[in-house]
Amino acid sequence: MSALALARSLALAGAAVVAFASCSAPPKPLLGPDAPSPSPSRALPAGAVWVTSGPLAHGDEGTPVLVGALGASPGFGRHATPEEIAALDIDVAPDGAGLPLGSGTASEGAPIYAARCAHCHGAAGEGGPADRLVGGVGTLTSAQPLLTTGSFWPYATTLFDYLRRAMPYDSPGSLSANEVYALTAFLLEGSGVIAAEARLDAASLPALRMPNRDGFESAWPPGKP
Ligand code: HEC
Repeated sequence: MSALALARSLALAGAAVVAFASCSAPPKPLLGPDAPSPSPSRALPAGAVWVTSGPLAHGDEGTPVLVGALGASPGFGRHATPEEIAALDIDVAPDGAGLPLGSGTASEGAPIYAARCAHCHGAAGEGGPADRLVGGVGTLTSAQPLLTTGSFWPYATTLFDYLRRAMPYDSPGSLSANEVYALTAFLLEGSGVIAAEARLDAASLPALRMPNRDGFESAWPPGKP
């Protein structure tokens, strides 16, 4: 990475000052209050961001490259478009806030699952190279608990959120809202959480009560610091 490219990425990361040292003598601190200040001819405005142009010889501060003043735009990059932000702004809260329009049923989800998921999670979600996804309801307190999306996860909405952002593993983010509703229904039906004909959407999904809904304790119980 060139010094300028490094400067750019550091300015983006909000870093203040960086330098490389390749000398064998004890180096001067390069960061913090004891760091050598650039010589007067190289003095930078207060709050400026700079990097050196290359490795430092002992006692040489390198050639500072002014990248930009903190708080001011470094003058490169561009604002994300509304479409780009919308593509990333997809979180769904446990109460269903953020769920998109659309709907799906288990029977609509079955062919999508067969095409996009079965090769990793098994033909019916029983597990394959990747996790088992269905079944195990009621086993959590048994000698052999089976943790699945149906038996373990406390909120059905989390399943929607996870599938939409993370699956299929080899192509995350490629499923439509209808497909995610249908796959969520397929998995929940496979665990016996919903009936085969149940249609999931932004209203019915948050209303589902998962079998292990009360199996968790809050790390921040009300009334405790
Ligand atoms: C290429 C293999 C692959 C494909 C295809 C795939 N998955 Fe996954 N899946 C994984 C892996 C690996 C994990 C574990 C990821 C992790 O722990 O970060 C996982 C995790 C999951 C989980 C979380 C399981 C748990 O209990 O934590 C769910 C739910 C899931 N996948 C559903 C699906 C669905 C639905 C599809 C199809 C749309 C799909 N996956 C396609 C590999 C795959």
